[in-house]
Amino acid sequence: MQEVVKSVVILGTGGTIAGTGPDPERSWQYRAAQLTVSQLVAAVPEFAGLPLEAEQVAQIDSKDMSWSVWQALGQSLKAHLARDDVAGVVITHGTDTLEETAYLLHRLVDGRKPVVLTAAMRPATARDADGPGNLRDAVRVVLEAARRGVGGVVAVLHGRIWAGAQVRKAHSCALDAFDAGGRAPLAQLDEAGQWHEAALEWPASGHAGWEVLNSPPPRVEIIHSHADADGWMVKAVLAYGRQHGPLKGLVLAGSGHGTLHQGLEAALVQATSMGVTVWRASRVARGGVSRREGDAFEACGELTPAQARVALMLYLSGV
Ligand code: SIN
Repeated sequence: MQEVVKSVVILGTGGTIAGTGPDPERSWQYRAAQLTVSQLVAAVPEFAGLPLEAEQVAQIDSKDMSWSVWQALGQSLKAHLARDDVAGVVITHGTDTLEETAYLLHRLVDGRKPVVLTAAMRPATARDADGPGNLRDAVRVVLEAARRGVGGVVAVLHGRIWAGAQVRKAHSCALDAFDAGGRAPLAQLDEAGQWHEAALEWPASGHAGWEVLNSPPPRVEIIHSHADADGWMVKAVLAYGRQHGPLKGLVLAGSGHGTLHQGLEAALVQATSMGVTVWRASRVARGGVSRREGDAFEACGELTPAQARVALMLYLSGV
């Protein structure tokens, strides 16, 4: 029987990887989300002869990521992952909110096939553009993961494979911009984009399914603790919510181990008495927040505040 050659589907959402600028030497001057995903694929010589399909799901600077883009992405992913002739999916994304999309998808997918997010810190027109190499690596990781029979969400960036549930942007401009909150990458890739760990453990997927994306999300906002944080912001969002739709949740981006100013704490306690669910994360880059006896607010573990917002939206949606 002839072996079926399976495709890798590449879904484009925009970002710096699809960005262009007027001067290859001034890589900080550019506009994100200008090239189509088909153009990005055509720019990688190593793709010649590979069974790839490109689909443009969105074309945005990822600072503008929204529930509606996640809905479109979810719809497309669901359809492609169900196909017998697809080995896995690559998503090209902006770096700025990649950690939110990666975490969301990690919670939703069933882990049968690999889903790999990739991005770039330099636009496609930069002399030192990192997008083509990252995209090439991402496709190789999908093919290798499919060959090994492992699945789930990871991010492939700058020669490393990161767990989708843990990856986050840790530097605003370096080429090597991502980490996992202090945890090591799952694997390093060699020059040829291959990984050698015999038994790479992919994190277990959330299996929540795509259904949750069919409804509008519950409103969840992030509040920072800082000097003089006296609860003014909490009162403001509660008042706004009374007029424009209910506020359902708040994530605290606390100081240190998720600590918070006493004025802010009083306001958040009041918010909980009004039916708002409050979860506690940290604005510190590494270490996260663990649960302690007597805590007023649920601790978010190692999630960043932005990922914790996604987690709280899912929780409030019953997932
Ligand atoms: C974006 O997040 O879309 C722009 C920034 C980037 O991709 O590095």
